[in-house]
Amino acid sequence: MSTLLRITDVKKSFSAPENGVVNVLNGVNLEIRPKTITSIIGSSGSGKSTLLHIIAGLEKIDSGLVEWQGDDITQWGDKKMANFRNTEMGFIFQFHYLLPEFSAIENVMIPAIINGKSERESNRLAKELLDEFGLRHRIDHRPSQLSGGEQQRVAMARALINTPALILADEPTGNLDEKNSSTILNHLLNLKNRFSVSILMVTHDKSINKDCDFIFEMTDGKLLPI
Ligand SMILES: Nc1ncnc2c1ncn2[C@@H]1O[C@H](COP(=O)(O)OP(=O)(O)O)[C@@H](O)[C@H]1O
Ligand SMILES: [Mg+2]
Repeated sequence: MSTLLRITDVKKSFSAPENGVVNVLNGVNLEIRPKTITSIIGSSGSGKSTLLHIIAGLEKIDSGLVEWQGDDITQWGDKKMANFRNTEMGFIFQFHYLLPEFSAIENVMIPAIINGKSERESNRLAKELLDEFGLRHRIDHRPSQLSGGEQQRVAMARALINTPALILADEPTGNLDEKNSSTILNHLLNLKNRFSVSILMVTHDKSINKDCDFIFEMTDGKLLPI
């Protein structure tokens, strides 16, 4: 099948006043095909989040290519990029980043409304997703009234509402205990078939690796298959 995302020889450095230029990504190559699960491990500070930010168009590269279905995303304007982020990608981070003043269902609906769906349709879709993640009785709760695991499941529903092609998950269980981590990871693994989505995740949780299609380690600014 075709390639969703292709990253070719991407380099990225940051200049820090204290320690000059730091080469974070030093020739990264990666290919994501439809309906695949890819996991990236690597020590703290090795550049994993930087890579996800680049894929999301939130960080510029120094050189290389980032192609989405053959199109060079580094050439896209802000509007196209924002639309791409909202419709083709879903994000799950270590912290949920739910909006505190909105209920669970409102948080899930917002990306659909931004995408032009009616309130009624957005509400229906959000309810369906929250139900799927076992949150039927929590839809009117604010994030602060939910447990860490529940908050993360709301974030997962929000990431899926516009039926993205790729979910980016950056240490999605980094803030959870073992039981909640395994619930979230199981949900993540099921998404591939249930929503025909690809998943690119950064995780320290080794137990998940046997269920991934591809595993890489970020070392010395490169992705090495393991
Ligand atoms: N905006 C930035 N400005 C300067 N340095 C940064 C910036 N973002 C990340 N870095 C540096 O890049 C390196 C990789 O960071 P990061 O991608 O967050 O690593 P990881 O997610 O693997 O822990 C770190 O040394 C970090 O301090
Ligand atoms: Mg990180």
